[in-house]
Amino acid sequence: MIDYAICGTRNSNIGLPKGREILAEGGTALDAVEESIKLIENNPYDISVGFNGFPNLLGIVELDASIMEGKTLKAGAVAAVKNYRHPISIARNVMEITPHVMLAGEGAEKFAKAIGFQEEEIIDELGIKNYKNVMEGKSLELPLEAENLIRELFMNFDKHLKEVMNKYPIKEWYKKLSFDKHGTTNVIALDKDGNMAVGVSTSGIAMKFPGRVGDSPIPGAGIYCNNVAGSACTGTGEIAIRLSLARMVVHRIENNMTPEHSAEIGILDVIKLNEDGVIHILTMDKQGNSAGVTNKDGLFYYHTDSTTEKITKRSSTYIEKK
Ligand code: GLY
Repeated sequence: MIDYAICGTRNSNIGLPKGREILAEGGTALDAVEESIKLIENNPYDISVGFNGFPNLLGIVELDASIMEGKTLKAGAVAAVKNYRHPISIARNVMEITPHVMLAGEGAEKFAKAIGFQEEEIIDELGIKNYKNVMEGKSLELPLEAENLIRELFMNFDKHLKEVMNKYPIKEWYKKLSFDKHGTTNVIALDKDGNMAVGVSTSGIAMKFPGRVGDSPIPGAGIYCNNVAGSACTGTGEIAIRLSLARMVVHRIENNMTPEHSAEIGILDVIKLNEDGVIHILTMDKQGNSAGVTNKDGLFYYHTDSTTEKITKRSSTYIEKK
């Protein structure tokens, strides 16, 4: 029988040892999730979470995060937050001390400042270099004039954006520019009292349109947790939003489906939608059974629980588009 468990996607192996320690000492699932994710947000080499997350089209890092507690269905989220390193902690405060679920942009930043969070630059030379490499190095397969205009967007966004949008369909070039670099961290924890929590943090899709918000801060889409199971998504957020993916996965587990089977159905729904995009679903039930399922080969997640000392890397089940 499992007393506690914690699992996570992406570079969560950096954060899970701390989360595990908290759970082993009898701490809460919420604390384990938040503290694990803070370590991932701190990692300057993770290009899509927290510090040095990939910036938007203008070279500015905008972060999304959320946290949800299973037993109360309380949730907190922030969207498009600039200049704060730990959006997961701001999200937790939104949940705990405001009457709201989500704060976005300037409002979230003002809230963070008011409760004592440190405003700071959250991109260094490495992050700027990564950004420039994409802006300068990626062929969008457009006429040279359009390519040059797009690369100059960050210098005079209003002027160039209108011109580019008038001449070339935004769906085409924007997708090519921002599509293939994204990543999100998901952490799901079960504590010794049998309570669960889920947290999600991301800088979203690289080169995203300023103000673009994905699934990560949206309960039901990129995150969901109740007293039966938790679920979270990574990948192309627009798909998870349209399918209410995280909620649907948990709903089926409530109806006695296994986490693995429920996440598989989620990915089959993604495939049926027939859009370009990658999704990975991470889920865990109250017995500590976790599963990762995806429509991209080679993805994985990490899991550890009270029955082992180790943090195990598990291959996620890949469902291929037929
Ligand atoms: N899944 C992260 C995002 O789309 O922003």
